[in-house]
Amino acid sequence: MNDVLVTGSSGIGGAVAAALGERALTVGRGGMIRADLSLLSSTARAATEVAARRPRLAAIVCCAGVFSLRAEHTAEGMERAFVLNYLSRYLLIRLLLPLLEPGGRVVLVANAGRYHDTLGPLDDLNLRGGGRGLRISGRTQFACDLFAVELASRAPSLSVSCVYPGLVATRVFRDAHAVPRPARRLLAAAQSRLGATPESAAETPVAVLGQGSGFYGPGCAPIPIPERVSSGRRAGLWSASEDLVRPWLARATAVEA
Ligand SMILES: NC(=O)c1ccc[n+]([C@@H]2O[C@H](COP(=O)([O-])OP(=O)(O)OC[C@H]3O[C@@H](n4cnc5c(N)ncnc54)[C@H](OP(=O)(O)O)[C@@H]3O)[C@@H](O)[C@H]2O)c1
Repeated sequence: MNDVLVTGSSGIGGAVAAALGERALTVGRGGMIRADLSLLSSTARAATEVAARRPRLAAIVCCAGVFSLRAEHTAEGMERAFVLNYLSRYLLIRLLLPLLEPGGRVVLVANAGRYHDTLGPLDDLNLRGGGRGLRISGRTQFACDLFAVELASRAPSLSVSCVYPGLVATRVFRDAHAVPRPARRLLAAAQSRLGATPESAAETPVAVLGQGSGFYGPGCAPIPIPERVSSGRRAGLWSASEDLVRPWLARATAVEA
């Protein structure tokens, strides 16, 4: 297999890149290509740099993410967790689709089928009125579910997967946004005692690179795609996402609807 783009250079993303060795090209705040993936401008710049460095990609593995309990807005006026966990993935993949080889793979590391649809109205994906609670992160995970299934149906020459890595001992709770410090400490302690190592968790997304489209859990175990995803608002989310990223899509190749 040829070059694989990995988002996130620490945590699970860092371990995926380490497992892939020379084939990995990382994008993140500490990646080979530096980018703030909570900003679409920075995401689009990263895509341009990827294309300049690699004419073809065998796969894109998206791991960058954040856990947040409160809506926060970036300098671009977009909800931070929504962009970092979902919309930057959408934009990066849309911009880089022309680089993917036939039979290429897209792997979204998220929560594969574990969340319900709490996206809210598709014309307010950036939660202009704010918001709090588990929904702030949960909706971004559900958005990845919808995106994986919708992309698989729009780009049948690709294999598109969503992966739930299980509980993994990374910094995700320690670095969580809007979680009170004592709760963050408690969650981080439980995570480091009970969670798998990032290295062992990375085995699943790496193994999924050899599988067909679908949802996968730890040990590459297939997860049934819930009805709320397969029959859910995936076309609606695609078109709302398209509207949100349009300014950065100028050079993207259209994917057949
Ligand atoms: N850990 C778990 O138990 C668990 C469970 C279920 C799902 N997940 C999912 O797995 C994914 C990875 O989580 P993790 O546990 O590896 O988290 P983590 O240890 O907190 O790492 C966060 C990752 O996101 C990247 N990142 C954060 N902010 C960024 C920004 N502004 N711009 C660019 N990159 C940024 C980091 O890369 P840089 O340092 O290069 O910026 C790093 O790779 C997430 O999507 C999460 O939802 C994790």
